[in-house]
Amino acid sequence: MVALASDRTKSVHRAQIADLDAIMRIERECFPAGIRETKDTFESRLTVFPEGFLTLKALDSASPSGNSTISGYFCSEIWDSIPQEAQDAYQLDHDTGNRHCKDGSVLYISSFAVLPAVRGGAGRFLFKTAVSHLLLCFPSIQAIHFIVNEQWLAARHIYETEGFSYTGQIPAFFRQQHRTDSALIMTKKV
Ligand SMILES: CC(C)(COP(=O)(O)OP(=O)(O)OC[C@H]1O[C@@H](n2cnc3c(N)ncnc32)[C@H](O)[C@@H]1OP(=O)(O)O)[C@@H](O)C(=O)NCCC(=O)NCCS
Repeated sequence: MVALASDRTKSVHRAQIADLDAIMRIERECFPAGIRETKDTFESRLTVFPEGFLTLKALDSASPSGNSTISGYFCSEIWDSIPQEAQDAYQLDHDTGNRHCKDGSVLYISSFAVLPAVRGGAGRFLFKTAVSHLLLCFPSIQAIHFIVNEQWLAARHIYETEGFSYTGQIPAFFRQQHRTDSALIMTKKV
């Protein structure tokens, strides 16, 4: 599969159904129980909007033959508008088929993660590659929108330095067994 972008150690590709097990491994390693989304959700995202689902492959340092393994993912959908006071729209595991609208104006990033072992430049590389690829492919997009857990500081740093602003907050959105965290809503006009 042709890479959308690459450097010496990593590359970004369109995701395939065969990648789902690797994607679920990333989900388990990157998000705590209670915040993880299901395999059915990822499969549905890949079926409804395959162009919006990308993977990061990184050189496996343990492989003598220099194999690359799937080490990150970015998935998204296109919405017709930014929801006003509609917190349900952001629910984890929401039905992509109901919300996705290929000619819409809002790119909604539904999830994004990179395995701890390859972090350090990989996250920003995947995020920037994915966003610029999607803006090129879907010229109707006028804004990029998503939520982020207030505690996910590395992700927030990427978003802030890529020009995103905080446009809302959903208190106690992320619920784990012993804690709750707010979701911060972020947006950038393009
Ligand atoms: C978010 C994530 C993909 C970033 O991957 P990564 O490879 O570490 O990303 P990068 O190194 O390219 O960028 C991270 C940036 O945050 C900075 N950073 C790291 N930890 C930080 C912290 N605790 N506070 C503030 N900034 C931090 C890094 O220095 C880097 O900044 P720079 O590019 O200006 O040097 C990865 O941390 C991850 O998968 N986290 C868990 C899942 C998650 O939070 N997903 C986001 C969903 S909204």
